[in-house]
Amino acid sequence: MKEFICGLPKVELHLHIEGSLEPELMFELAKRNQVAIPYNTPQEVRDAYEFHNLQSFLDIYYQGANVLIHEQDFFDLTWAYLLRCREDNVLHTEIFFDPQTHTSRGIEFDTVISGIHGALVQAQHELGITSQLIMCFLRHLDEASAFETLEQALPHKDKIIAVGLDSSEQGHPPQKFENVFQKALTEGFLTVAHAGEEGPAQNIDDALALLGTARIDHGVRCVEDEALVERLIEDKVPLTVCPLSNTKLKVFEDMGQHNVVDLLRRGVCVTLNSDDPAYFGGYMNANFLAVVKAHPMSKEEVAQFTLNAIEASFISESEKLRLQ
Ligand code: ADE
Ligand code: ZN
Repeated sequence: MKEFICGLPKVELHLHIEGSLEPELMFELAKRNQVAIPYNTPQEVRDAYEFHNLQSFLDIYYQGANVLIHEQDFFDLTWAYLLRCREDNVLHTEIFFDPQTHTSRGIEFDTVISGIHGALVQAQHELGITSQLIMCFLRHLDEASAFETLEQALPHKDKIIAVGLDSSEQGHPPQKFENVFQKALTEGFLTVAHAGEEGPAQNIDDALALLGTARIDHGVRCVEDEALVERLIEDKVPLTVCPLSNTKLKVFEDMGQHNVVDLLRRGVCVTLNSDDPAYFGGYMNANFLAVVKAHPMSKEEVAQFTLNAIEASFISESEKLRLQ
């Protein structure tokens, strides 16, 4: 099974590029940019990655991003992730980035997107890996800041396929961003949102109804509302599920408790993804392996995760045929 998983072509739909910052690169960039970090070695950084919920992770994750200053830093970060895609046989990836994490520190929006986009273009030519970019609004910040970020994105419409919503879900429901998402839709962006990760199933309903989302990031708490699960199946709403993230952040006690295989067998369009692999202990293959270890399943079922991801992706119908 391990060989089958490693060889299986994969599509990743839920990856925060800032969450792919490995401790070794964090150290290299801290040195290059003369940024102080509160650790002495990469191992000390790894030892600090013990989380008890989403917020305890986010506090460390935003601190890590402080070493990213120049366009080259964003390029190096993205390129390192794309090399990991090649190792894990990821053929297409849809990447989140959080501009406000950087613009709030005085880094220009253009610096961030140019570095990331440069690496994506190079990966298409040199590694044959295709990609899309999704710009996320931080939900712990206000709607005015999200509107400002949307304005900054308009000259880069050609590089951004969708807008999303991430960061602290509790206390920051989809309603807070209804106006800015409606504006993004009129500007031609697709939309996605984190919902039902730590927050209630109602957030999934509201993201679909108020934010017009084409898919839901995480969504695992949908099972708390049976009528919602039936609607997700009926309407073929994809969920981008992140198993190692969910166990690290205690959304589930352990992988044996995770519901992604149940949802797959019920016919929900679930996909497997790595979320913040440098923080949660694994890229795509590690997520697949962890799920299969805890939930024995057939090769056909494992391959269904990839078929679902192709279907749920934001690539053209002709490109989808290439991947199948
Ligand atoms: N930002 C990065 N990872 C996240 C997650 N799992 N949930 C919400 N926001 C995030
Ligand atoms: Zn996420």
